[in-house]
Amino acid sequence: MASMLSQLSPSVTNQIRMDHTHVLTAFHQYEIGSSARVKRGLVDHVCLAIEIHAQLEEEIFYPALRAVADSEILRKATPEHDEMRGLIARLRYMPVDDPVFNDTFFALMRHVMHHVADEETLLLPAAERLLPEQLGALGAEMSRRRLELAGPRAPEIAGSVARSLSLGAMLAAGSAALAGAHLLTRHRTADRLSAARSRSSRLGS
Ligand SMILES: [Fe+2]
Ligand SMILES: [Fe+2]
Repeated sequence: MASMLSQLSPSVTNQIRMDHTHVLTAFHQYEIGSSARVKRGLVDHVCLAIEIHAQLEEEIFYPALRAVADSEILRKATPEHDEMRGLIARLRYMPVDDPVFNDTFFALMRHVMHHVADEETLLLPAAERLLPEQLGALGAEMSRRRLELAGPRAPEIAGSVARSLSLGAMLAAGSAALAGAHLLTRHRTADRLSAARSRSSRLGS
């Protein structure tokens, strides 16, 4: 199993980018005028994806990067996750028709977008510069841990998809990614982009 994971897993940085894309794509489906059922399904799905992603980064990615780098962005990454967790806890128990439901979700997504921008423009490139030999092994470790975390929450994942039936196809694809189905479809495009990025960064240095 361990060797299969290391062969099939995207690198840790590409896995993080894929998670970000998934969360932002789900957010872009959110409309104030949608039914309560669709909004509940989308919000629950986004919240679960953020929770699993944040835990994976805190257990695997941040410690690896901290071992070779120190920066304000890296130090504030986990406290920012905690702010997101606070908003997620409020959303979980808030009825969709609460007057501040939309604003609370938008506040969460403002935090997410700011945080994702810092990670994608600073932390991921730093990891690719400083840890090039470890990205594959860290990706395999992240895939293994993802399966552990997503497995017990499969009913939640399925429930959020079912509640937003009109978005079912998109969320079903996202749920598969959340649960680690990328292991079965190696992301050659992402790997090619990564190789091109590192080639251009070498040319630029
Ligand atoms: Fe993060
Ligand atoms: Fe992230």
